[in-house]
Amino acid sequence: MELKTDIFDLFDSRWALLTAGTAEDFNNMTISWGGLGTLWSKPVATIYIRTVRHTHKYLDSNEYFTLSFFPAQYRKTLAMLGSKSGRDIDKMHMEGLTPKAVGETVGYEEAELTLVCRRLFRQQIDPTKVPVRIAENFYDGDYPHDMYIGEVVEILS
Ligand SMILES: Cc1cc2nc3c(=O)[nH]c(=O)nc-3n(C[C@H](O)[C@H](O)[C@H](O)COP(=O)(O)O)c2cc1C
Repeated sequence: MELKTDIFDLFDSRWALLTAGTAEDFNNMTISWGGLGTLWSKPVATIYIRTVRHTHKYLDSNEYFTLSFFPAQYRKTLAMLGSKSGRDIDKMHMEGLTPKAVGETVGYEEAELTLVCRRLFRQQIDPTKVPVRIAENFYDGDYPHDMYIGEVVEILS
């Protein structure tokens, strides 16, 4: 497995589409916070998902998830999937996106890079352990983030 990329650019600038669930029942959402690294001697991806997200439920009830990265022309689609909830729209049938089974979970024909991840860990970020200047910005009355760490088991590009 090999990945050559600018990790800061990959999440913060390009954004990722997080997908969890099975081909029969999945949900997705856009994320821009995340990281790649090493833990327990495994290649891992770390993501931060507020507990209120519909996708949160799918992450907890499925062992696998994918992080998909798309060419620039999908920016509008990603912005939409990052502003509307799967509780209100059908994210399994989006115009312009072709879901495909990837192992036990789901990726997309249009993605130029897909990281297939197997959940290893979840923990809620405790706002009292975060510098006040950050907590005031991100946790003042808002739902907390759960941090998920997944082993990157496959890279499709
Ligand atoms: C560019 C962008 C980045 C985002 N990054 C995150 C993130 O890292 N974590 C998070 O919890 N929500 C993030 N969101 C918000 C979710 O994508 C958004 O609330 C989405 O509608 C949730 O969908 P769901 O309820 O179907 O899961 C981001 C939104 C956008 C547009």
